[in-house]
Amino acid sequence: MRAVTFSEFGGPEVLAVSELPDREPGPGQVRIRVAAATVNPTDLGFRSGRQSAQLTGLEPPYIPGMELAGEIDAVGTGSDWRPGDKVMAIVIPRRPEGGAMAQTVVVPAASVAPAPKTASAEQTATIPMNGLTVRLALDLLALKPGDTLAVTGAAGAVGAYAVQLGAAEGLRVIAVASPSDEEFLKSIGAETVVARGDGAVQGIRALVPGGVDGLVDAAVIGAPILPAIRDGGALAAVRGWQGDSERDIAIHVVQVSRYSENQAALARLGKMVDEGKLTLRVAETFPPERAAEAHKRLEAGGVRGRLVVVF
Ligand SMILES: NC(=O)c1ccc[n+]([C@@H]2O[C@H](COP(=O)([O-])OP(=O)(O)OC[C@H]3O[C@@H](n4cnc5c(N)ncnc54)[C@H](OP(=O)(O)O)[C@@H]3O)[C@@H](O)[C@H]2O)c1
Repeated sequence: MRAVTFSEFGGPEVLAVSELPDREPGPGQVRIRVAAATVNPTDLGFRSGRQSAQLTGLEPPYIPGMELAGEIDAVGTGSDWRPGDKVMAIVIPRRPEGGAMAQTVVVPAASVAPAPKTASAEQTATIPMNGLTVRLALDLLALKPGDTLAVTGAAGAVGAYAVQLGAAEGLRVIAVASPSDEEFLKSIGAETVVARGDGAVQGIRALVPGGVDGLVDAAVIGAPILPAIRDGGALAAVRGWQGDSERDIAIHVVQVSRYSENQAALARLGKMVDEGKLTLRVAETFPPERAAEAHKRLEAGGVRGRLVVVF
């Protein structure tokens, strides 16, 4: 099978397409013939060496990619999946089998859920990683219907799922983003949009003088966003947390690997798509040979919708 790989850390130019042997699924695993896999910010960190501490004992070539859509190709013992089932899956790439960006990928059966019937493979591939990240973030924040949720980086992948899942749960969502993203964010459920930048905290406090109940910090603003949250509120941090909190605000560090075998949550996300409750966004598709171009585009910023490699 062909896979997007890298054998040394560096810029997008280290990415190559390699021919590697197909792996056989073991007990409780399935092999997926991949139709589409996405490029996420974490792939840039993996490729550049920022995550090298987590690669101890793993030999290159490495395969990036944390989510995919495709079709079940082979089934290990103890799994109910059948060859030909259309599926999506989350993949943890820092393992001997590598990540999602390959023609065939072996994953635990519990990391797989049915693909929504109403979406293309390219769209479906954008669901698992960021959808499950937001599911975990909202579970950790544990807000009640009617509570206020602010979302930084709201126009990004994590941010837009936070807006949509938050609104679907009856939260009053304040999106922090560029004014040019306002129309889109309101169309997917944001009650109000506050302009990103230095005035964001003031903008949120103008709408909710006591501060919001919870905040998903998808733009990784960190401590400077805390004043937007009420005393005793909560923040979901998606890239760890340095330093202290304040005013009894709970900091929840989100690591999607915790939900990498939460099949029920992944299946619910797919169902939401079929019910018209989740909008999927693809910015552009690339063949595997142009994966480096997709990495460059994501690195440059300003992408709306995910960049997807099609196999
Ligand atoms: N811990 C986990 O398990 C986990 C899982 C998934 C993702 N993540 C992390 O979550 C973060 C977001 O991922 P993503 O895929 O959503 O990235 P993304 O699609 O690139 O979205 C980030 C968004 O934030 C915007 N932004 C940047 N600075 C901002 C600011 N100061 N105020 C408001 N918006 C701002 C960006 O706008 P521009 O494009 O215009 O700059 C972009 O729309 C990344 O750091 C990623 O690594 C963590």
